[in-house]
Amino acid sequence: MAKYQLNINGEDIDVDVDPQMPLLWVLRDEIGLVGTKFGCGIAQCGACTVHVSGQPIRSCITPASMLAGQPIRTIEGLANGTELHPLQQAWIDVDVPQCGYCQAGQIMSAAALLEQNPSPTNDDIDAAMVGNYCRCGAYNRIRKAIHLASENTTTPFYDASTPNIEQIDGDMKGEQA
Ligand code: FES
Ligand code: FES
Repeated sequence: MAKYQLNINGEDIDVDVDPQMPLLWVLRDEIGLVGTKFGCGIAQCGACTVHVSGQPIRSCITPASMLAGQPIRTIEGLANGTELHPLQQAWIDVDVPQCGYCQAGQIMSAAALLEQNPSPTNDDIDAAMVGNYCRCGAYNRIRKAIHLASENTTTPFYDASTPNIEQIDGDMKGEQA
């Protein structure tokens, strides 16, 4: 076991776990942030995507101890207080999810894309989202929602490297699993 501190969604959280424990298990089993999902466990499906210093990573294969001192953002920290991230609103407007299981990872990958490229083309979207699988085949609606979020946003997307402190209890917070 090892004690270290993680910065998750703007909050410093002390953990005492095996240093090799992947971030996904720390999030879900130690901290109770279950919006991030386990899919394949081998970095192939994207269900476990979160941001570290603004970059999307696969939390299922990344030891949490490596991330001490770096800002981590999960789906629970994506909104700005009670204001949904433009992608979350677009996801609702387009009615993207089917079973919903992959969606937190999809949104986190899309959020990282829009932070770097606020007006992506279809090709840009396909390239950024290629590692996020959806067994329900919602790819067309995901692409449509990313375009909608891009079009509806007049202010810059959040600074992905500086997580919000406030969190919300809204529909997009993440489902219990
Ligand atoms: S669960 Fe991490 S990529 Fe599939
Ligand atoms: S909505 Fe079911 S796996 Fe994507």
